[in-house]
Amino acid sequence: MDSAHVENDLVNVLFTEAQIQERLGELAARIEDDYAGKDLLIVGILRGAVMVMADMARSFSRHLEMDWMAVSSYGSGTKSSGVVRILKDLDTDISGRHVIIVDEIIDTGLTLSWLTSNLTSRNPASVEICTLLRKPEALQMPVDVKYVGWDIPNEFVVGYGLDYKEQYRNLRDIGTLAPHVYS
Ligand code: IMP
Ligand code: MG
Repeated sequence: MDSAHVENDLVNVLFTEAQIQERLGELAARIEDDYAGKDLLIVGILRGAVMVMADMARSFSRHLEMDWMAVSSYGSGTKSSGVVRILKDLDTDISGRHVIIVDEIIDTGLTLSWLTSNLTSRNPASVEICTLLRKPEALQMPVDVKYVGWDIPNEFVVGYGLDYKEQYRNLRDIGTLAPHVYS
């Protein structure tokens, strides 16, 4: 769906579908340069990173492998619970592999900080993080994010994989959710 379909639920549109595609293309180009001559496995974090993975993967002009993990760090609302659990693990043995974790947003950084050390303990050749969005709080966490689409204000955003209570994931754009929706 388009922003127009949920106009009353959004304070604003932060990034349009076209802006997102352009930025993902730039990130993919940087990654291609950085990983020239190396095999590459990108790991998407379900369910939010589905759109980023699908679009970014297709803008690469080289081979790569894709795998998925599901973790839970949030309840069903807008606040982090602080607890990380693996709901679905990788199917791939990553020892000796170059891995990029792909996520749609880093908020506190808790999930990705935990995930990075979890994957690092499996002896990969390297682990880096790529996220479409990053909130200011994440900058205080000891998590080194190599590829960031945009830094955004500390507001709750939806669309392009980002949900509020499992809705809005199929919105083409990314927008700030109006407080009346969740208060
Ligand atoms: P962190 O551990 O606080 O970095 O949590 C990151 C996860 O929280 C993301 O992968 C999202 O699933 C969820 N999240 C954080 N901020 C938002 C937001 O503004 N909208 C939707 N989901 C969010
Ligand atoms: Mg997520």
